[in-house]
Amino acid sequence: MYSSSSLWGGRFQEQIASTALEYTESLAVDAAMLTEDVWGSKAHVIMLNAGGIIDDEDARAILSGLGSASREIDEHTFAMDVADEDVHMNVERYVTSRHGKRGARMHTARSRNDQVVTDTRMHTRTLVLGVEQELIALQETLLALATDHADTLTMGYTHTQHAQPITIGYWATAYVSMFRRDLTRLSQAYRSTDINPLGACALAGTSFPTDRRLTTELLGFAAVQENGLDAVSSRDFGLEFLAALAIMVSNTSKMAEEIVYWSTHEFRLVEVADGYAMGSSIMPQKKNPCVAELIRGKTGKVYGRLVELLTTMKGIPTGYNRDLQEDKPPIWEAAASALSTVRTLNGLLSTLRFNEDRMRELAHKNFALATEVADYLVKTQNIPFRECHRIVGEAVGTLYRSGRTFEDVQATVDALAAAGATVTERELAPVLDPVVSVNSHTSLGGTAPAEVLRMVKAERDWLEAHKQTFDERQERIESAFRRTEAVSAAVIAGSSVHDALHSLGGNHHG
Ligand code: ARG
Repeated sequence: MYSSSSLWGGRFQEQIASTALEYTESLAVDAAMLTEDVWGSKAHVIMLNAGGIIDDEDARAILSGLGSASREIDEHTFAMDVADEDVHMNVERYVTSRHGKRGARMHTARSRNDQVVTDTRMHTRTLVLGVEQELIALQETLLALATDHADTLTMGYTHTQHAQPITIGYWATAYVSMFRRDLTRLSQAYRSTDINPLGACALAGTSFPTDRRLTTELLGFAAVQENGLDAVSSRDFGLEFLAALAIMVSNTSKMAEEIVYWSTHEFRLVEVADGYAMGSSIMPQKKNPCVAELIRGKTGKVYGRLVELLTTMKGIPTGYNRDLQEDKPPIWEAAASALSTVRTLNGLLSTLRFNEDRMRELAHKNFALATEVADYLVKTQNIPFRECHRIVGEAVGTLYRSGRTFEDVQATVDALAAAGATVTERELAPVLDPVVSVNSHTSLGGTAPAEVLRMVKAERDWLEAHKQTFDERQERIESAFRRTEAVSAAVIAGSSVHDALHSLGGNHHG
């Protein structure tokens, strides 16, 4: 009786059609989680032996096969065959082709269904940390910028129209606040990702005496994902990560947009460093903010990847369905794009030159102190704010129609008088000074330099605490990896799994 050469080929009488294989294989995408797949198999095999499910010789044979796979992966010589569809079956084939019947026991009490999502969660966990690391670096750039420019005047905008003077430090701490929330969302996505589905098997658990807590520990997961049906079905961790990335790049895009138009001749608020700009092939004078534009433009890819996975996940029933294979490309691609976006924005921002003279000049212009004048009237003349708003509005209208501005203090005094408020030039002059204005905005979260510096300090403290969580997570992953490698090496060298687990640390008692 003929059966297909595939690892699942027993019930088949024909080989898979080449069109079908090409359409369904996932090797190139899976290659990103080859290390995780082998690590997962080592942990699984150690657990199988610890529970007496496979014997010592089987465990030793499989672990030495996996050990040489690891070496080939590190040396980039591990060859995979598309005929084996995915990374899991390539690794299994590698082991069974070297260790025959013993190797064939490695897939006991496991399914590709729990295996693939274990690998995906492990790889995604690392991708989350990669993006976080870049975002932490960007926050450090912004905090330094905010400190240096706590009192550098500039214009604040609403509707892209002059609104009220602020400082560059204030602008920078606004972004620090946004990116802090992005870090919080990424951190939550990490938490949702960092649970272990391995041991769910196909969907329903198993009658073998597996120890899911042991694999959880060896793979550095924070907890077991208990319900097996949920474990093989759910990809909400990926959606959460993509949603966090989509929101994050909406923030990086916002900053990129500001850099694009602030660097125009019309604004002249900033100048992009030569290293972050490009020329034109025909117009010799051009200096284009191409990097900022692409930071804005690549946002589409990340949003798209979120919608891609949301759409894939729509209406998939519980249990593993092959649709789920489509989870990985959007996660990998969005993470790579978002990471390079944050890194590049950091380079762009840390080399950006702020045109302080132009910023100061604008802060004086265009009636941006009108709200200050209205507030002054409220405080000194006990007139209700709505009435002061009308008076100042009328005065601005009068000055504007006669081609004058607040810089003409006497004309402003006259216009206010005509609108119904008496103030002297001496009183009014400081009210029209943007430095006085900015310094007086000491309300909680206001633009006053003292308040900016207080926020910088609070954000720095938050970031330090976050970095600690980040380091702990990274260390948990690395130490779990080292332990699995060490146990595996000890077993290959002749130790029993039981002894190796006990002599090589960990918190496992069982
Ligand atoms: N390549 C598959 C994926 O990425 C692996 C799991 C396949 N499982 C199965 N029962 N066919 O999802």
